[in-house]
Amino acid sequence: MSAIPGGIEPFAEPVYVTRPFLPPFERVQSRLADIWASRRLSNMGPQHDRLQAELAAHLGVPDLRLFSNGTLALQIALMTLGIRGEVLTTPFTFSATVHAIALSGARPVFCDIDPETLCIDPRSVERMIGDDVAAVLGVHVYGTPCDVDALTRIADAHHLKLVFDAAHAFGTTVQGRPIGLFGDMTMFSFHATKLFHTAEGGGLAFADATLSHKLELMRNFGIENEDEVVLVGTNAKLNEIQAAIGLEVLGGLEGERSRRSAVKAAYVRMLENTPGIRVVQQGAGVSDSLQYVVIRVDEAGFGMSRDGLWAALKQWNVFTRRYFYPLCSDYPSYMACRRDRLEHAERAAQEVLCLPMFGDLGVEGAERIAGMINYLCRRSCGLPRQAGAATDSSIA
Ligand SMILES: Cc1ncc(COP(=O)(O)O)c(C=O)c1O
Repeated sequence: MSAIPGGIEPFAEPVYVTRPFLPPFERVQSRLADIWASRRLSNMGPQHDRLQAELAAHLGVPDLRLFSNGTLALQIALMTLGIRGEVLTTPFTFSATVHAIALSGARPVFCDIDPETLCIDPRSVERMIGDDVAAVLGVHVYGTPCDVDALTRIADAHHLKLVFDAAHAFGTTVQGRPIGLFGDMTMFSFHATKLFHTAEGGGLAFADATLSHKLELMRNFGIENEDEVVLVGTNAKLNEIQAAIGLEVLGGLEGERSRRSAVKAAYVRMLENTPGIRVVQQGAGVSDSLQYVVIRVDEAGFGMSRDGLWAALKQWNVFTRRYFYPLCSDYPSYMACRRDRLEHAERAAQEVLCLPMFGDLGVEGAERIAGMINYLCRRSCGLPRQAGAATDSSIA
């Protein structure tokens, strides 16, 4: 039995689905020196305020508030909008979306997703509207925009609040319109796994400027001034060190975007003719956030299930992720929630696989991983092997 599966060299080090983009250390160090000298480590200092303004400009939104992470930002968005009762959402998302609803005191209700965009299906939203529904929370999953126009029409017609989780959609535009301009509020995550990050962090863009003060109170214990605490708030502040990292990451973002764009193009080129594999692509008029490269695996065409592929790639030190499996609607905490038939969400959860996607992977890294997938396909489908590729029976 060959030690090298399929004659393809495994990566020397584990390759994970993402790796944070890090700006030059000296640049961050120089900002840290300023912070040290000022002894101002948190509580909306100069680095924080500068990042807040620069991000609003970068995202094309009139205003933005920063938070310690995206999950708390989303919870605060729902609380600031005064949402009570039921919130219609998607089960095909990261746990944080649904936890934020529950932690805000509202109840999630699960709608199905559109089979193409994998975002909440407006038809399912309409089916699930009931007396207790107060809001819709859509997720721009993998950076693919929800059907924002249809959701806005439905929300307006039924007097519902409309909130978006844009954790994957940093910088996305829809027909030239920035993604943060839709609905009542849009949350961005700046976690280290995201294209733009502050190690941990989050932001809220919002339509109603009169809510900015309430958001500021919510993230800072409800403190109005030294004499007054005016509402039940929490601690969700982004500190100066996080903001300093963010300012430098923002400065290097265009370079990271172009490296990721080349990585994605390499995957698409190598996988576009692979039977049973479909690379999830953005629709016309949508800019790609370059957050993820996601494939859908059709077992009948590929000759191997998504889980089989996920397991087999580990033999080459490639650790992909099955985002978003399991569905949030299958977590024990949410089993009792009201739900539509979740046919498309259930199918997507069995088919999707996120491939490694970060600038340092390079075109060569993406080609090697795509080559592994193509090898597995040829092997599973019994199609002829490429000349020179060795046989190996150790692959599942
Ligand atoms: C869709 C989605 N929503 C919310 C979050 C939570 O963001 P954070 O990690 O910044 O709390 C994440 C992931 O990080 C996410 O993928």
